[in-house]
This record gives sequence, C-alpha cells and structure tokens, in this order.
Amino acid sequence: MILLGVNVDHAATVRQARYRDEPNAHGGYVEPDPAEISWLAEDAGADGITMHVREDRRHVQTDDVERYLEKKKTRLNLEMSWSDEMIDYALRIKPDSVCLVPENRREVTTEGGLDVAGNSSKAREVTSTLVKAGIPVSLFIDPETSQLEASAEAGAPWVELHTGSFARAWFDEEARQRELNVLRSGMDLGVSLGLRVNAGHGINYVNVAEARTLSSVFEFNIGHSIISRALFTGIEEAVATMRSLLNPES
Ligand code: PXP
Repeated sequence: MILLGVNVDHAATVRQARYRDEPNAHGGYVEPDPAEISWLAEDAGADGITMHVREDRRHVQTDDVERYLEKKKTRLNLEMSWSDEMIDYALRIKPDSVCLVPENRREVTTEGGLDVAGNSSKAREVTSTLVKAGIPVSLFIDPETSQLEASAEAGAPWVELHTGSFARAWFDEEARQRELNVLRSGMDLGVSLGLRVNAGHGINYVNVAEARTLSSVFEFNIGHSIISRALFTGIEEAVATMRSLLNPES
C-alpha cells in the first residue's frame, strides 16, 4: 500500500488571490478554507496533510495550520525552510513530521531539492534539533547518491525524493524512463541506507500510473493535480481517485 499525503497549499493560493489583505484568513466570505479542505480530504482517504508555510506567506498562513490541528484526523506534515523562525515554529506547534525544503522568493513552487551534501553541518544540526523534540524529519532532495548519503549521515529518518524531473519529462519517452530509473535507484539506495523514502512534486492523474511502480515509496505527497481536479469533482472524489490510482490492486 502506497500512502497518499495531500498538499493543500493551492487551496490557500486561491484564497490569497482574492483575500491577501483581509485581516482574517477564514470565515464569512473568505474562501476557500485550507483547513476545511484538509478535513474533507482526510474523510476521503488522505493518509496525511501537507501544508507549506513559506517565509513570504504566499499561500498557507499559520492560522490555517493551527485551525487544521484543532480537528486533525490524520497527520500534519509541515513543509518549511530551515530558517530559525520556522524551526522555532515547528518546535512550538509540534507537527507529526517536518519536510525541509529550499526556499527562493522568486520561484513559483519548490524547484529543486535541498542541498544536504553541500550543507551537511546545518542539515545535521537542524535534523537533530527536530528529531530530539520528537518530530521526524524528511529532507526533500533530488534522487542523487550524494544527497541520499548525506541525508542518512545527517540523521534524518526520512527523505522525500523530488519527482519533478520525471514529471517534466512526460512527453519524452526516453528521458522519462531515464528519470524513472534515477528515481528507482535513489529509492533503492534510500531503503538500503535505512531511510523511509517518500516522493513528490508534479505527480498527476496520468503520470501516477508510472510513478506508482516505485513501489518501495512509502508515501507520495501530491498537491496541484488534486486541488485542480477538485474544482471539477470536489475534493473527496479527487482524493479517492488518486488514492485508488496509487493502489489499483487494493
Ligand atoms: N513535495 C514537496 C516537498 C513540495 O514542495 C511540493 C510542492 O509544494 C509537493 C510535494 C507537491 O507538488 P505538486 O503540487 O506538484 O503535487
């Protein structure tokens, strides 16, 4: 069984497009509510919810996270940078896990993996602070040997392999198979290093058929495609369909 983590950032993106300057992040006419979308996703079979609180607060607000936690039914994976501000925030709200990602103000979405190999002492320090506080850490990395080895050395129990290169190569059969093989090798290496291997970025209702062949992946974190489909079908159908596409035999 491959688990499905639902990333609700883009529900918050839609809200911010209209209500960025509203003092209230929810309630009344301020919609959609990412916390409410999360609870509905959980009812439909999401195994966990991911919210990315970015430094520039462009989509999810801390208020969304904290209201979600009040009625959480599964797990909160808090995606964040490794800034002091965000580490203090995680230590205060104690999510079920933290996924550390690089952040760049100009990017539209998270573009590349974290350079754990090039920042090994920072990675070790941050991971140890969070793990000691009882918060499992997942490092979002490109599926490269050096990044996987550095993640294990940093003491992270989990990694999340960046599937963006595979998703972007969709229309080029040869490149796509090459990227899938890179992910497969990364997944195998991660498992052999004792890491729990998650994966995500750019997974949609079409490419999931190939992505799911990475069968040792513990959980896929999927956002944009699910929130997009929900505009047509509702979040419950969008989540249930993705979950069954990930696990067609179950
Ligand atoms: N995993 C991580 C670490 C991400 O940064 C994102 C994008 O916010 C996702 C998964 C989900 O990507 P997508 O929205 O393309 O499904």
